Amino acid sequence: MAERPVVFVTRRLPAAVEARLAERFVPIPNSEDRAWTAEELVERARRADAVLTTATERWTAEMLAAVAGRVRILATFSVGTDHIDLEAARRLGIVVTHTPDVLTEATADVALLCLLGAARRAFEAQRDLRAGVWTRWSPTGYLGLELHGRTLGIVGMGRIGRAVARRARGFGMTVRYHNRRRLPPELEEGAIWHETLDELLPHCAFLSVHCPGTPENRHLLDRRRLALLPRGAVVVNTARGNVIDEAALLEALDSGRFFAVGLDVFENEPDVDHRWFTRPRAFLLPHIGSATVETRDAMGFRCLESLEAFFAGREPPHRVV
Ligand code: DGY
Repeated sequence: MAERPVVFVTRRLPAAVEARLAERFVPIPNSEDRAWTAEELVERARRADAVLTTATERWTAEMLAAVAGRVRILATFSVGTDHIDLEAARRLGIVVTHTPDVLTEATADVALLCLLGAARRAFEAQRDLRAGVWTRWSPTGYLGLELHGRTLGIVGMGRIGRAVARRARGFGMTVRYHNRRRLPPELEEGAIWHETLDELLPHCAFLSVHCPGTPENRHLLDRRRLALLPRGAVVVNTARGNVIDEAALLEALDSGRFFAVGLDVFENEPDVDHRWFTRPRAFLLPHIGSATVETRDAMGFRCLESLEAFFAGREPPHRVV
């Protein structure tokens, strides 16, 4: 590369990733890790050949049009691309890449953490212990649900859904899933396919969501569908908040229809509906699905591989658009 391309990096990244980025590109950094406004994002992107963004920045059609003259590629530090208007990027000739595969295992771990945390009432138990409220072991205290022997429904049997299915089988669960298309048997992880979501839901004592947050999937689990789950179900979401109607989910929890919920993602992140904070049967995490040292480094290097390939005139390996 003769002249190093300029890359607008919208967030602070792991140190190893920032170091390699600085060797190969001229970064426009976000040293204070500020939350930029749309205008601030556009103003900086206009000075860059590429943007390395994350799921915390929304790139609308208008913003992409405003930077299209200069920006040729947008590499997102995420597997999800719902924060980018992909259709507009395609129209404007802006390449978009993402970070598949490397966060599969970390995110599946957090789905299990949510299943266990919700089913075993981990929040209530830990809260009481730390507050000095717990005095002694009790035969009737903190009674939760066992995963073993129960049925887990998986909505979206992609890479992460399959990794969750593998783990669930290890816990002695029966796994059922809904996906638009049935997977070949060697990818099914022993799970039973249901052609429709409506057919799947009545079977599921536990439900875990793993489909993308596309506009079509908004409120895929709406009030009517949530009502198809058996009484006492545990619902977990580590995908995107908008896939579940959060108000309906809260209602189902409050009414006692659901035993517990486990959420790593929320509809209006980062403005989480405060009512969740007062619900003891809600096991809550702040979108940490991919937050391991190994995975976050690997996500950063995926972005760099794509940028390096693109500016060397090769096809970027993790291209979406
Ligand atoms: C992803 O990669 O999509 C994770 O949700 C982090 O944004």
